[in-house]
Amino acid sequence: MNALISPSLLSADFGHLERDVEMLNSSNADWMHLDIMDGVFVPNISFGFPVIEAISRAARKPLDAHLMIVQPEKFIDRLSELGAHMMTVHQEACPHLHRVVQSIHDAGMMAGVALNPATPVEMVEDVIEDIDLVLVMSVNPGFGGQKFIPHSLRKVRRLRSMIDSCSSGALIEVDGGVNADTGQQLINAGADVLVAGSAVFNAPDPEAEIDALKALE
Ligand code: DX5
Ligand code: ZN
Repeated sequence: MNALISPSLLSADFGHLERDVEMLNSSNADWMHLDIMDGVFVPNISFGFPVIEAISRAARKPLDAHLMIVQPEKFIDRLSELGAHMMTVHQEACPHLHRVVQSIHDAGMMAGVALNPATPVEMVEDVIEDIDLVLVMSVNPGFGGQKFIPHSLRKVRRLRSMIDSCSSGALIEVDGGVNADTGQQLINAGADVLVAGSAVFNAPDPEAEIDALKALE
């Protein structure tokens, strides 16, 4: 089955952000992935609300916000007001994950839970029927352009069988080192959504790269 494609603007040219958002608007991308980092949960800082607001004003596709920050619950209302459609928080950052998921839904957004490479998929088993997506990190979060960690494929397969054996409708999204080659392996393993940063924005023709990812089945 074809996957949804969510290009990560982390690899965009921030000096020409509107141009890059327009490129995604006119492309066959499904969502736009926003990587928000705080320099605490991950060893890097990306961008905050002024930039998210500028992206939101220009974007004509659903905004897929991935929060790599501690205490993401502080920003649920703000992100919703800025027009985010999905808000994904890290399991490792949320001791009260179930409550955070409820609050994201109360704010009108889809709720996602992200798992670092060392976090087993069982950590979402007890919220799997309450969430809209699971984000499998296939690199250690913090930077674009890293190498895909192969054991992510096993995690996707285990999640696929967990989701298919209950009444969960959660999508499996994968983030980090995704290109046409790893993307094909991920779809074979049962992934529904592919995030791609450097593979799209460093390609000579980013729209053609999005089409190549969308054509995988
Ligand atoms: C990493 C981010 C990713 C990143 C992916 O912390 O969550 O979304 O932008 O970049 P690539 O596709 O280059 O690995
Ligand atoms: Zn991400």
